[in-house]
Amino acid sequence: MNVILMAKIIAVANRKGGVGKTTTALCLAHFLGRRNRSVLLIDFDPQNALSAALLVGGQKDPSGAMDVVRGAANLIDVIIRTRLTNIDLIPYGRPESRLGEDEALLGMRDKRVAFADSVSRLSTRYQYILIDCPPGSSAVVQFSLYLAESVIVPLQCQPLALRIMPRILTDIKQLIETANPSLKVEGVLLTMYDFWEPISQAIAAEVWSFFPRKSTFHAVIRRSPVFERIFSSDENPLLEDPLPEELLDYDVIAQLILTKEEGEHSTEPTSAPSKRK
Ligand SMILES: Nc1ncnc2c1ncn2[C@@H]1O[C@H](COP(=O)(O)OP(=O)(O)O)[C@@H](O)[C@H]1O
Ligand SMILES: [Mg+2]
Repeated sequence: MNVILMAKIIAVANRKGGVGKTTTALCLAHFLGRRNRSVLLIDFDPQNALSAALLVGGQKDPSGAMDVVRGAANLIDVIIRTRLTNIDLIPYGRPESRLGEDEALLGMRDKRVAFADSVSRLSTRYQYILIDCPPGSSAVVQFSLYLAESVIVPLQCQPLALRIMPRILTDIKQLIETANPSLKVEGVLLTMYDFWEPISQAIAAEVWSFFPRKSTFHAVIRRSPVFERIFSSDENPLLEDPLPEELLDYDVIAQLILTKEEGEHSTEPTSAPSKRK
């Protein structure tokens, strides 16, 4: 009997903007790709940050996911091979022709079902599908969470975060419950962690005690200007060899996901290892 393996679909979401969702989707995809997993990134944010980072000049406003939802393209035809190893991208797609068009389309059940069917047909080609969500709790976010098996919730380690933490946490819970009650929390991920700031430690302690151990990553992503450069199309640190050390924080997360999913125990990169001194 042939077993058809389907990709694990993980959404990266948080209602708040600027917490590191897109950075997480991109860096995680990169390290899963370096570990020989085939990855599809779906950019569900109209800001198209992933496309900007991954596509080199001349590909402005490529067709993408929303064109498929609009019925103007097939999912298979909007996949773009990126310059990162093992990573394909489905961009958001062309801008909507009138305000609220995309939101209204995703409000229609038949559109959602058709898109979900196409994703499921595609998912035999990949091992991981990562969806980058926009902030907020729009129909696009709800739909992304509906498509996904699990969600990664990046939380930015900043002083305000501790004060608004209870609200953020309730928000996440509500969003999950309305969009997809069977959705698992892959992990709450602390981003922009500052090892010199006691507040970062306080936030980590709070988050790690609030959530069950299995739904938080007990590893953090440090704050570093290197992460700002991953959105630039030239001199992208993801393509440097050796890789800047800070980026490897995401390799730790990739390993935690692989270990959970596949029982992998290796701690060394399996492909293209960086020549670290
Ligand atoms: N670990 C980090 N250290 C420093 N800056 C970061 C880090 N992660 C993300 N950033 C920066 O923070 C900003 C918001 O990140 P982004 O991934 O776009 O968040 P979101 O997708 O949640 O809006 C970007 O300018 C990004 O370069
Ligand atoms: Mg983003």
